[in-house]
Amino acid sequence: RDSRVARIDAAIRVIPDFPKPGILFRDVTTLLLDHQAFKDSIDIFVERYKDLKIDVVAGIEARGFIFGPPVALAIGAKFVPIRKPRKLPGEVISEEYTLEYGTDCIEMHVGAIQSGERVLIVDDLIATGGTLQAAIKLIERVGAEVVECALLVGLTDLKGHLKLGGKPVFVLVEYEGA
Ligand code: PRP
Ligand code: MG
Repeated sequence: RDSRVARIDAAIRVIPDFPKPGILFRDVTTLLLDHQAFKDSIDIFVERYKDLKIDVVAGIEARGFIFGPPVALAIGAKFVPIRKPRKLPGEVISEEYTLEYGTDCIEMHVGAIQSGERVLIVDDLIATGGTLQAAIKLIERVGAEVVECALLVGLTDLKGHLKLGGKPVFVLVEYEGA
């Protein structure tokens, strides 16, 4: 694997029992403290997507707002925030998704992504895949094409990619435990 990935892996802190007992939380805020590792993570995404004619980088709240914009700037794409409910001020389209208990929802401004545009989705992590599945639906509802989903972390035990209907997922580091 890319030699830069070992440093990225080492820079992501693991916090046991957060936000609840039994969960091993993968904390990317410590990656942001390691300038080289943070830069390498952005560079790997930029190298992968710079020639793929990406029109839009869509970042998912909250940590997709950290990693998405530098990629968008470097590859010459727009940045579109996909947010939790009732945060965006304009007209929105919404997509609900299922959590372990109950449902959640993400929203996007109407008009932010145009029909036919090529979209890269960026977030920090894929677990069950529910969030990405909802984001893909939202983007496809406006007639745009999701080229790939890019994440720093993949939790392989949860098999989140199986929810995404074959949509390609690119992760920098994979961990087995949830
Ligand atoms: C976390 C993570 C991903 C999502 C992945 O965000 O940042 O966005 O969960 O989980 P999934 O694959 O099971 O859908 P969270 O919803 O906790 O919110 P936050 O990013 O605003 O903290
Ligand atoms: Mg999130």
